[in-house]
Amino acid sequence: MKFFVDTADTDEIRDLAATGVVDGVTTNPSLVAKSGRDFTEVVKEICAMVDGPVSAEVTATDADAMVEEGRKLAKIADNVAIKVPLTWDGLKACKALSQGGTMVNVTLCFSANQALLAAKAGATFISPFIGRLDDIGEDGMDLIRDIRIVYDNYDALSTQILAASIRNDDHVRQSALAGADVATVPPQVLRGLIQHDLTDKGLAAFLADWEKTGQSIL
Ligand code: E4P
Repeated sequence: MKFFVDTADTDEIRDLAATGVVDGVTTNPSLVAKSGRDFTEVVKEICAMVDGPVSAEVTATDADAMVEEGRKLAKIADNVAIKVPLTWDGLKACKALSQGGTMVNVTLCFSANQALLAAKAGATFISPFIGRLDDIGEDGMDLIRDIRIVYDNYDALSTQILAASIRNDDHVRQSALAGADVATVPPQVLRGLIQHDLTDKGLAAFLADWEKTGQSIL
């Protein structure tokens, strides 16, 4: 499973990218607002930091304007993926942009039927929102599992499942078990994935024993 970082915070992206675990980045209008940065500038900076797809979301709501915005954003860098909402206009924009060779991430997906529509419209990525389904008392992971089955039923569907709205490490674990192609993970959740008490204890014991030898490698 690929990891995208779900943020527009360039310091976080730079630091995490240095570990080699970052395959791409997703942003949305809320994350850009939180960064306080100019949208075009921040997308350009992120695209220069990571080789993989960087999602930038349109804010128009009619198809023609979405396509116009998408084409403008796609000119920022070759690795920009245009994010469009899961509406009929969004699907029209998805078809036009993907036929023009631009990667498209169809966002705000809350049902397997919506995911099927997005795949037929040529989406590169579908973004099912796990956490927001959990928030309304549903099990967001069921949606990832359902979409995996639907897409695997049809060879013609090549859209990648991008598990989004991830809130905790179990969402990541279960997304991988369910066969999501990508998980987009907030920086604090991604950083937490490495934690294990036995790793910490084991390292402390090794270092204490090494100290006793009085040796130095360098
Ligand atoms: C990413 O593409 C989504 O916009 C993001 O994961 C949504 O997360 P949220 O539901 O925590 O806002």
